[in-house]
Amino acid sequence: MLKILLSGCNGRMGQAVTRVVAERDNMRIVAGVDVSSAVQPSFPVYSACFEHTGDVDAVVDFSNPAALPKLLMYCCELKIPIVLSTTGYDDTAKAMIVNASKAVPVFQSANMSLGASLLMDLAARAAAVLGGQFDVEIVERHHNDKLDAPSGTAITLYNRIADALPYQPHPQYDRTQKRAKRAYNEIGIHAVRGGTIVGDHDVIFAGHDEVLTISHNAHSREVFAVGAVKAAEFIVGKRPGLYGMRELIGS
Ligand SMILES: NC(=O)c1ccc[n+]([C@@H]2O[C@H](COP(=O)([O-])OP(=O)(O)OC[C@H]3O[C@@H](n4cnc5c(N)ncnc54)[C@H](O)[C@@H]3O)[C@@H](O)[C@H]2O)c1
Repeated sequence: MLKILLSGCNGRMGQAVTRVVAERDNMRIVAGVDVSSAVQPSFPVYSACFEHTGDVDAVVDFSNPAALPKLLMYCCELKIPIVLSTTGYDDTAKAMIVNASKAVPVFQSANMSLGASLLMDLAARAAAVLGGQFDVEIVERHHNDKLDAPSGTAITLYNRIADALPYQPHPQYDRTQKRAKRAYNEIGIHAVRGGTIVGDHDVIFAGHDEVLTISHNAHSREVFAVGAVKAAEFIVGKRPGLYGMRELIGS
């Protein structure tokens, strides 16, 4: 029985993970961590991970970048694998993640859904074939409570496309400040916020008289929760290192 500590347990994603784990008989949530007490789940909720003194096999995190330092300290000290699903990490946080992955298995993905992972592969393939002839733009849409913009998935998509292109692109977030034609090597990244949209991503390849759009739409938070739970099963017992959806799908 896999013992999970769930960070951000009282948030939207934390509650989705709680529902998914409740349907599994090979795992249970032994403790939650959250700075809010708005929800009272069936397991104990602490304001910091070190307050939980029982055994934990894996930590699953859907919270806020501010939670990262303590989570990594907890996991490195007790040698516990961690699944990081939170988005919006800055460069300092990213360096901390790489450092922690030398001590424990760390699974990180800005998008835990299988379909979105495939979207990344397809977009990279399209960029390799069409790059230089087609303009590339990324559009993401999320609910009106989302804190970070553009989404972590849009940033990962940009990076995957940039790696596949035959030239060095640069991201373009704002075209209001300069009256100028689009440069061939810019990739527009657009963030739409509204209503209850769970998460949509379009990658547009616009060529001469033809447009290829590759899209992924998540219709419920459960798709991400299921992915994170699978990631937890995947990293338990692995060697220290940084893992992601590519390794999970490859397995
Ligand atoms: N990787 C993915 O597939 C994926 C999918 C959806 C959302 N996300 C990301 O997961 C995160 C959470 O999303 P959400 O929609 O559930 O947000 P949310 O605001 O509903 O929930 C976040 C929860 O974390 C708690 N929290 C905030 N700071 C904390 C801290 N320092 N320590 C402990 N708990 C803290 C909040 O009280 C809240 O309950 C966001 O970064 C979001 O972008 C990732």
